[in-house]
Amino acid sequence: MPYVPIPLPSRVEIEKNEALKVAHDYYTHMCKRHSVRNFSKEPVSTEVIEKIIETAGRAPSGANQQPWHFVAIKDQEKKAKIRSAAEKEEKAFYSSGGHDEWISALESIGTDASKPHLTDAPWLIVIFAERYGLNKDGSRRKNYYVNESVGIATGFLISAIHNAGLVCLTHTPNPMKFLNSMCLRPINEKPIMILPVGYASADATIPAASTNKKPLDEIMSVI
Ligand SMILES: Cc1cc2nc3c(=O)[nH]c(=O)nc-3n(C[C@H](O)[C@H](O)[C@H](O)COP(=O)(O)O)c2cc1C
Repeated sequence: MPYVPIPLPSRVEIEKNEALKVAHDYYTHMCKRHSVRNFSKEPVSTEVIEKIIETAGRAPSGANQQPWHFVAIKDQEKKAKIRSAAEKEEKAFYSSGGHDEWISALESIGTDASKPHLTDAPWLIVIFAERYGLNKDGSRRKNYYVNESVGIATGFLISAIHNAGLVCLTHTPNPMKFLNSMCLRPINEKPIMILPVGYASADATIPAASTNKKPLDEIMSVI
């Protein structure tokens, strides 16, 4: 497509003296986001999931290639198959003995090989990254900044989930190649993570360690 400049189609108009309050309100809203591993079985409509994924699709991407695909799963049988495959990988990981440093880094998060959230949550969103594009003749087209672009889209997705009053978990079974065949995705796509999405159960807990966030002066410097 040739370069065609158009006038900026939309702006968020905020009075300059309101910016700090608006920024602070958004910060407060985002402080209420937590990774949740205990889901209620309360359903979430397909329309809500569609709108959340549509929001993720508004993320910036290298050369606007949008190298992502989101598979939304509500089928209970499919979720059970994914849980069983993920738990098999996790059992191998936790009992391998070769990942001691990694496993001790996870200690304060309290995770183990059991993944009930994969069947309790009403939806699983599986995120795929398109490593390279495929032309109609089967030749490959290079995609640029795939990891960065999919990471940003995932951030949009998590923010949209939170904004709709829902919770999720960024779950990364390792390895997760099994997700391609289960989600019917082609080999040029790589599974990045599974997000169980739904409402937090009434008795949901989170690891205390996860609330420990670095202060601003540690994550920011001003020049
Ligand atoms: C890339 C990535 C992978 C993660 N993988 C897992 C996972 O496989 N299982 C899990 O229980 N949590 C996983 N987490 C969640 C983190 O443990 C969680 O984000 C962290 O403890 C901070 O908690 P918070 O999200 O509530 O702020 C992952 C998070 C990220 C960003």
